[in-house]
Amino acid sequence: MAIELTWLGHATWLIDVKSTRVGNHRLLLDPFLDDSPTAPIKSDAVQADFILISHGHFDHVADAAKIAKRTGAMVISNYEICEWLAKQGVEKTHPHNLGGGSNQPFGRVQLTLAHHSSMLPDGSNGGSASGFLLTIEGKKLYFACDTAMFYDMKLIGEHGLDVAVLPIGDQFTMGPADSIRAIQLLAPARVVPSHYDTWPPIHQDAAAWSARVEGETDAEPCVVAPGGKITI
Ligand code: NI
Ligand code: MN
Repeated sequence: MAIELTWLGHATWLIDVKSTRVGNHRLLLDPFLDDSPTAPIKSDAVQADFILISHGHFDHVADAAKIAKRTGAMVISNYEICEWLAKQGVEKTHPHNLGGGSNQPFGRVQLTLAHHSSMLPDGSNGGSASGFLLTIEGKKLYFACDTAMFYDMKLIGEHGLDVAVLPIGDQFTMGPADSIRAIQLLAPARVVPSHYDTWPPIHQDAAAWSARVEGETDAEPCVVAPGGKITI
């Protein structure tokens, strides 16, 4: 079994599961490709079986409908975002709310708390912003998605995380300093930065962040450039 994470820039991740037991599955998180200055591919080049959407902001939902319609992928998100995408012709959606999870062909997905807003690009109510906890053949992957740091991350960490993907961009999410505290609470084996360097306001020094992770936490920092991969 192998799980490969590919950073497609900004907060977009491809989670490629190859398993003799649960099969092969491609999960796409928060697709923002066509208008992202750092995306290594365009939306028409990406394949997905499942699309996970954390909240309604344009830099997370922008390409969701077109990719879902082209690939037939099932969208996993909150109820409001699933309804919004269904109105645009997306046929397969699986709505949740915070704390709720479901068993899927690849494993289990649970929507976790996130402290963030979620209005959709046309002003529709995008429900509550979430993160995702994925359990795939015993591996635990936590995507905080857009959020402030919060103390209950300690409870998420009690699952025993193989990897945590955290925003470090600041301004719209937690920044590098709060991410260090978040890593201490989550105690993941590995930690991956996200939601930075897309535009000047969220530029960050990933090497400096990485050095702080090594000095102040027990997690292994994994920094990749857009298009780069991490194997779990
Ligand atoms: Ni956002
Ligand atoms: Mn965002």
